[in-house]
Parts: sequence; C-alpha cells; structure tokens
Amino acid sequence: MVLIAAGAAVAEVAPSWFRPPEISLIPEGRFVYERNCQVCHGRWGDGDGEMAKGMLPRPRKFSAGVFKYRSTPSGALPSDADLERTIRAGVYGSAMPVFAQLGDREIRSVIAYVKSFSSRWDKPQNFAAPLAIPEVPGWMSDPVERDRHAVRGKACFVRACAACHGPEGKGDGPSAETLEDDLGRPARPRDLGLPSIGSGPGSRDLYKALVTGLNGTPMPSFSEATTAEERWDLVAFVETLRRRGQKAGR
Ligand code: HEC
Ligand code: HEC
Repeated sequence: MVLIAAGAAVAEVAPSWFRPPEISLIPEGRFVYERNCQVCHGRWGDGDGEMAKGMLPRPRKFSAGVFKYRSTPSGALPSDADLERTIRAGVYGSAMPVFAQLGDREIRSVIAYVKSFSSRWDKPQNFAAPLAIPEVPGWMSDPVERDRHAVRGKACFVRACAACHGPEGKGDGPSAETLEDDLGRPARPRDLGLPSIGSGPGSRDLYKALVTGLNGTPMPSFSEATTAEERWDLVAFVETLRRRGQKAGR
C-alpha cells in the first residue's frame, strides 16, 4: 500500500476500513463521554475513573488502543460497527453497561472521542478488513447431529483450551491463576457455562471469538490452529456447557 502524507491523498489510497477519529465530532463526543463514560474509563481514557477501583475486568484503557471484541483479525483495531455493538449491548459479565438510550449521532461522536485517546487510530497499518463469519451450519438445529459434533468438540477442547479454561470450561484450568493481560493485571479465563460472552450471546459470536482472539489478553486467535469444522465442533461443545450451566443455575 502506497501512502502519501497529505490528508486528502491518504483518504484516496487508504483501504476503506481505515477509520481515524472523525475530528469534527470530537467536541460532541467529549460531552457524551464526560456524562456517560468518564466515571469508569477516566478523564484521559486511562481506565481509571472514580468507579473503576476493584472492577474486574477493569474498564478499558483507551489510551492503550487495544480492544478485545472485534470482527477483525488478531492484533487489529476494531471496526466502528464493533465499537457500536459493545457500547449499545454492553459487555456481559463485566461492569460495562448497556447504552440503549444513546442516539446514532451520540454513538458516532463518542466513538470519535474514544479514538482520540490513542494515536494507534491514526495509522492505517493498525486496521484490517473484518473477517467473514460463516453462517451457522445446518446440523446445529438437529439435536442428534449437534451432540455428535459436540463430542468431537470436547476432544478438541481438552487439547487446546482446558489448560486455561479447565476440563468443564469453568475457567479453572491449571494455568488460570497465573494468566495476566498485557498491562500485567490478572486475566481470568471466562466461565464458559454462563449464558453469554463479551463478543455476544449467539453461536456466531462464539465462533467469532475463536477466530479473532481477544487482543491484549492471553486468549489467542485459533484461526490458524483450528479448521472451520473444528471451530464449529468447539462451538457445539461450549453450548452444551451453557445448557448444563443453566440447569445448575449458573
Ligand atoms: C460502570 C463502568 C463503565 C461505564 C460507565 C462505561 N464503561 Fe466501557 N467498559 C467498562 C468495563 C469494565 C469494560 C471492560 C470489559 C471487558 O474487558 O470485558 C469496558 C469496556 C469498554 C470498551 C472496550 C471493548 C473492547 O472491545 O475491548 C469500550 C469501547 C467501552 N467500554 C466504551 C464505553 C463507552 C463509550 C462508554 C460511555 C458511553 C462506557 N464504555 C461506559 C466499564 C464501563
Ligand atoms: C492461554 C490461555 C487460554 C487458552 C489456551 C484458551 N483461552 Fe479462551 N480465554 C482465556 C482468557 C484469559 C479469557 C478471558 C480474557 C479476558 O476477557 O480478559 C478467555 C476468553 C474466552 C472466551 C470468551 C470470549 C468473549 O468474547 O468474551 C471464549 C468463548 C473462549 N475463551 C474460548 C476458548 C476456547 C474454545 C479455547 C480453545 C480452542 C480457548 N478459549 C483457549 C484464556 C485462554
């Protein structure tokens, strides 16, 4: 990719997924941020607002420019649609609230402001095209077939996931206690028996988490280490853990 320094020229040659902060929206975004986000994410986007103390996971440190829940490959920044989903839907299992009351323009402007905390958003090389997440395979709706795939998924899980997530996916594998995020804070593997994850509640959201990984945490991308078929088998297995978790009242 050839880059020319002048602003207009960059827009012409940069790929369509390069989305630096929309400068004109920043003042409005700051207003939305100060009212809704600053108590947790902090005045300078350092994730250290008044309410942040003791929160686990911690509010995201926007000044680091690293994001967990994305449709983009490991290491890349999220798309605007990814950020919008996080803000509107919140993050299950964390203090990140649902912001259903914010309008489209408020969301767009607060996204611009969030981006303004880190210069990573100014560099096209930190962006990448979203990955295509395939449709859920037909066999998922057939309970017998689904159980057959879940058995294969379990074998894959024991090999690739149990060291961190534990054999039953409760987040208590042998290495769980020692895992840390990039900022040196404890990063506990998710309890996969709970009804949802940060990426979202659906089967495709689980699949997405497996191909993207969670940037800044020990949860890696499995886009190379597994085939698409193995990933769907894993999804089928994780969903059996969810059903069991629901029965046990987790
Ligand atoms: C009550 C505290 C709280 C408030 C208020 C809050 N957040 Fe968060 N936010 C969090 C926590 C905690 C996380 C970390 C969740 C995780 O790591 O799973 C987070 C994570 C995020 C992320 C990162 C998602 C990712 O992919 O890594 C974004 C973006 C975000 N918040 C945006 C906002 C915006 C915008 C607002 C205001 C409109 C806001 N938050 C208000 C607590 C809060
Ligand atoms: C090296 C340890 C490690 C391995 C191996 C690992 N995970 Fe994780 N996983 C984590 C950690 C830590 C988190 C929580 C990260 C965070 O939110 O800070 C996590 C989170 C997740 C999530 C939640 C994603 C979200 O969107 O909230 C899913 C689903 C998951 N792992 C599934 C798997 C599966 C399936 C495998 C095996 C194919 C696997 N993990 C292998 C450490 C690991």
